[in-house]
Amino acid sequence: MSNPPVYTTTNGCPVSDAFSTQRISIVNNDYNNKAPIGPLLMQDFKLIDSLAHFDRERIPERVVHAKGAGAYGYFEVTDDITDIVDAKFLNQIGKKTKIFTRFSTVGGEKGSADTARDPRGFSTKFYTEEGNLDLVYNNTPIFFIRDPTKFPHFIHTQKRNPQTNLKDANMFWDYLTNNPESLHQVMYLFSERGTPASLRTMNGYSGHTYKWYNSKGDWHYVQVHFISRQGVHNLNNEQAGKLAGDNPDHHTQDLFDAIEKGDYPVWDCYIQTMTLEESKKQPFSVFDLTKIWPHSDFPLRHFGRFTLNENPSNYFAEVEQVAFSPSNTIPSMQPSNDPVLQSRLFSYPDTQRHRLGGNFHQIPINCPLKSGSFAPQIRDGSMVIDGNLGSTPNYANAYNCPVQYTIPAKVNQDKGNDEKYHEEVIPFHWTIDESYDFVQPGKFWDVLGKTNGEQEALVHNIASHVKDAEPFIQERVAEYFSKANPVIGKLIKEELKKLSKL
Ligand code: HEM
Repeated sequence: MSNPPVYTTTNGCPVSDAFSTQRISIVNNDYNNKAPIGPLLMQDFKLIDSLAHFDRERIPERVVHAKGAGAYGYFEVTDDITDIVDAKFLNQIGKKTKIFTRFSTVGGEKGSADTARDPRGFSTKFYTEEGNLDLVYNNTPIFFIRDPTKFPHFIHTQKRNPQTNLKDANMFWDYLTNNPESLHQVMYLFSERGTPASLRTMNGYSGHTYKWYNSKGDWHYVQVHFISRQGVHNLNNEQAGKLAGDNPDHHTQDLFDAIEKGDYPVWDCYIQTMTLEESKKQPFSVFDLTKIWPHSDFPLRHFGRFTLNENPSNYFAEVEQVAFSPSNTIPSMQPSNDPVLQSRLFSYPDTQRHRLGGNFHQIPINCPLKSGSFAPQIRDGSMVIDGNLGSTPNYANAYNCPVQYTIPAKVNQDKGNDEKYHEEVIPFHWTIDESYDFVQPGKFWDVLGKTNGEQEALVHNIASHVKDAEPFIQERVAEYFSKANPVIGKLIKEELKKLSKL
């Protein structure tokens, strides 16, 4: 066995006794044990070094998705999709790329229970030769909002009441029932799909529409799906509630233990693709992430799989400091005009500058393969650790940027031009046909009806949550779900009556 490390102060000076403090040796004979009782000395750098750093150990937790678990792995190309995308990491069957994945709940704090009824974040960083590609997804194919200005309002209602600091069923349902484009996601969330049995047994979905370019510069709209090879398994309301008390870290532990014993989870990766012409014929906007693309019209196409096979060696350095963002992309994969996606491009690096500091991209877990990747004007700032691009000029010029990276010209020309720009600025929600909002939720209710007990579970899960809200909010919740199918509202009211008698 190698020698244990020597305990030192932060300047590397060895310390003889980890637990000693320096103090003035006044011995007071009034005390029987005769131990020195003098005050501490300011020269005791070991003590001050340790306390001062301890005082600064916490950094801001993520404003959403604070509780999470992560692991390393690799992605492998299984099928050729070069007709859709010209990405170097996808250009050869069998090619492997290192990845890091973090799973999370959304609304709870860093110490909250893993089994809360909440969507799960599913973020993967691909360390590709063209830069880090982050796919920052959820385990649900749809989302609560399609207008980014609603996000902070919506999130506040799912967190704590500003006065009581308690979760608040009135706020929760007041927001949702007033913003019924959320219905599809809420039905999904309150169905038995709303609480995964483990992080290994859930899928991941881009939700948003992306634009992927091939080598000719032609593009398709794309949605991505990660399908769990472990199958999809969920907890019911009561199992999840019990686990939240018995082991709030149930999912974190399950993932760590599985990887530790070599039971590596695997996901198959698929795309759905749509042309601009096809998008014009859909009854919904492809920029509206409250909608899915029907699989019957847009079948899944397999292109790869990824495996998680290595646990982090330090939770804080790797899982806490990892910084994912939809803006971390590669030349052939561009965002669409979805306004929620476009807002996310700003929000993530912005919060990360606050959460981790201006040079967060230099932290090893975030650093691209080409360490200190070349952006000559990104210089200095607090905590430079990668050499700061040495003696190269601190601006782009003919000497240090002689070669332009070759990407199909259309990637740049087309960006944002798939929709005609209007002369006047039109709020996105004005362009949406709201009558279609309840069609997909109605179909989802029918899908639940194909499995024994799924519709009943949805009704039970909603009623168990809304029973803590005021009667008028309960009334609104029944109306809200009736938009998908009138029978749901009726059943919720009946279930509420049953629960109130318990
Ligand atoms: C306007 C809409 C949204 C805004 C403003 C927003 C903002 C944020 C912010 C500020 C964070 C914390 C990031 C960090 O501290 O590193 C975050 C995390 C996250 N968001 Fe969003 N978000 C939005 C919508 C979405 C959507 C639609 C999805 C999924 C399709 C999503 C998935 C995630 C995931 C997975 C994380 C956790 C990343 C991690 O593991 O570190 N968000 N979001």
